Amino acid sequence: MNNAPIGVFDSGVGGLTVAREIMRQLPNESIVYFGDMARVPYGSKSKDTVISFSRQIVNFLTEKHVKAIVIACNTASAFALSEIVAETDFPVVGVIEPGAKTADEITANNKVGVIATEGTVKSGMYSKVIKSINPDIEVFQKACPLFVPLVEEGLLYDSITIEVADRYLHDLLSYGIDTLVLGCTHYPLIRRTIQKVAGENVSLVSPAYETAKELEKIISKNNIESSLESAVHRFYVSDSADRFKKLASSILPCDIDEVVHVNIEQYG
Ligand code: DGL
Repeated sequence: MNNAPIGVFDSGVGGLTVAREIMRQLPNESIVYFGDMARVPYGSKSKDTVISFSRQIVNFLTEKHVKAIVIACNTASAFALSEIVAETDFPVVGVIEPGAKTADEITANNKVGVIATEGTVKSGMYSKVIKSINPDIEVFQKACPLFVPLVEEGLLYDSITIEVADRYLHDLLSYGIDTLVLGCTHYPLIRRTIQKVAGENVSLVSPAYETAKELEKIISKNNIESSLESAVHRFYVSDSADRFKKLASSILPCDIDEVVHVNIEQYG
């Protein structure tokens, strides 16, 4: 059981920013990653749809005998975390609480911006969690739906991405935020572009780092640390394995030998 893998999932490649951090912080832990490339984006879908997609993926990961799951997608964490936690008997970690905690630690003027998908913004989950930690923090949110396709297309530093970031961040910056939460796991991949537009006085928060730390705590609390000398990572997708492989190899510190296509709908 201890040497069983951690299940990590996202709507696409964004969750690899969380997987990368888990690989760095917990090098003995194996990962089974699922990227729902066929159904990305989750951010514009309804809560019920995201819950049902998440359930299918959890069923798939459970069949792979994972010992814990990280929902490496803010939209799925916002909409489905409580359902998944209630339905599974192993630990499940989302990305919103770790990101909210970091924002509270970092902000000096109590003005925090959150950029995320439409679904995450509409759920109000970041505001709710940040305010439950510190009610004095003002939270300003902005949905940035074009960022996900730009990342999935690999346009990380392109002038078009700078232009889009400029438009999206304009209002948030005018509120005087000193901290900006990258509330979608795709956004750390365009961190440099976002920082350039936001300016050096705004601290960017990527929940990936804190999520991996949270996972470490949970693994140790449950006494399920892996004793493997070298971890084995496996990757599964619901669409073209080649496209995923190309993007993933530029994100992860390791080579990916194999990406397997899965018909995820059959796990309903
Ligand atoms: N990476 C996902 C998130 O963190 C969602 C992107 C999408 O599917 O819309 O919300």
